[in-house]
Amino acid sequence: MALYTVAASVLAGLQRRDGALKTLVYKSRFQVLVYDLLFGKGLKCGGRWKVLVLKHQARLQAELARLKVRRKVSCNEDLLVPTEGVSQAPQVPRYVRVNTLKTCKDDVVDYFKRQGYSYLGRAARMEELSSLSGKQFLLDPHLPELLVFPPQTDFHENRLYIAGHIILQDKASCLPAFLLSPPSGSHVIDACAAPGNKTSHMAAILKNKGQIFAFDLDPNRLATMSTMLVRAGASCCELANQDFLTVDPSDPKYSNVTYLLLDPSCSGSGMVNRLPAEESAPSSERLRALARFQRKALSHALRFPALQRLAYSTCSVQQEENEDVVWDVLQEHGTAFRLVNVLPSWPHRGLATFPGAECCLRACPAATLTNGFFVAVLERQQECNSQGSSSSLPAEVDGGAERSQDGEGRGPRAACKKRRKKSRCVK
Ligand SMILES: C[S@@+](CC[C@H](N)C(=O)[O-])C[C@H]1O[C@@H](n2cnc3c(N)ncnc32)[C@H](O)[C@@H]1O
Repeated sequence: MALYTVAASVLAGLQRRDGALKTLVYKSRFQVLVYDLLFGKGLKCGGRWKVLVLKHQARLQAELARLKVRRKVSCNEDLLVPTEGVSQAPQVPRYVRVNTLKTCKDDVVDYFKRQGYSYLGRAARMEELSSLSGKQFLLDPHLPELLVFPPQTDFHENRLYIAGHIILQDKASCLPAFLLSPPSGSHVIDACAAPGNKTSHMAAILKNKGQIFAFDLDPNRLATMSTMLVRAGASCCELANQDFLTVDPSDPKYSNVTYLLLDPSCSGSGMVNRLPAEESAPSSERLRALARFQRKALSHALRFPALQRLAYSTCSVQQEENEDVVWDVLQEHGTAFRLVNVLPSWPHRGLATFPGAECCLRACPAATLTNGFFVAVLERQQECNSQGSSSSLPAEVDGGAERSQDGEGRGPRAACKKRRKKSRCVK
């Protein structure tokens, strides 16, 4: 029982934001054992303490998973809170995504107004987000269901959050599903899905109509995801504990998959509250290994025969995991796919490492008031002899119909016209 009490007090301390998880665990009586068990490389001791800790391993791990569900975070590091003197992380606003599977923006706005918050309407410019203070809030200028509150606003105990009516999700992390915008009824793959924030966002965009095939390698993260999806009311998802690289694109089950979201494991170097400064730059060896996987996964994703549109994203700011991956894979696939010039009003674009890289989006605290992030949207090129129709996506996503990375317009007709002049759009 003593072990439960100590573990519970560690988790309660974390909820109260008394300090970083590591600090709290190390302050406790079972510090090293519990830390090693939950976050390290397993127990290295022997004796009765090991027996005692192992006896409660499942319970401790379940508590940790429950905490991650409550915090809606994807991995252990995301539980870290800045402690004095450790973090010089810039502050980003608190973003609240309205879960349209359970409620609507107007009802959530009314709720917060009744709670004493003052609603300032839709922001016209990004700068307005950084001047929020006290109990003010805004509607985001880019994303239609995203409310913005001052940094450090904590809604983890809020009734709407607990009921799954709001999701606490950084604005940058809302971009991939928003930019993918699968129409209701579509079949979609979420290739590296857990803990599922983007999956539940896509389910909301689909209005639960259609099918999301969600894969993840990590069973614990999938368990967390499953709980979160129930809470969010997302009912159109089929979860599989499977390596996405082993999912067969020619399996008839996926023959109608037209949209795919790929948010693979990455260095996480864009997360502002994530790691102490000295750990934030990944080693070149780690970057190489991550990029190798990311390239493989992106290349594999493009092999699904009916695929029309794909969003690739990372919470990394490293070129090796972002522009380099996209460029290498585009080259490998010839003219089959090309980049879409998404969200032209977005101020921070892909690094100009190849022609057309500015079609990609980057995010960072200074330029976009978000975590560091990268998104690229790829679309299948249409046959030149098809009756090219313009994009069915909202103009704010693709910058209006018929606008492409080369500035000559988006959509099949524009692509074909351009291809007659030059064999490849993205090169
Ligand atoms: C960045 S996280 C995904 C976050 C998630 N998209 C969200 O928004 O909540 C990357 C995920 O990829 C999973 N993963 C890594 N390699 C994988 C593979 N080969 N197949 C499927 N999932 C994988 C990891 O377990 C991890 O959960």
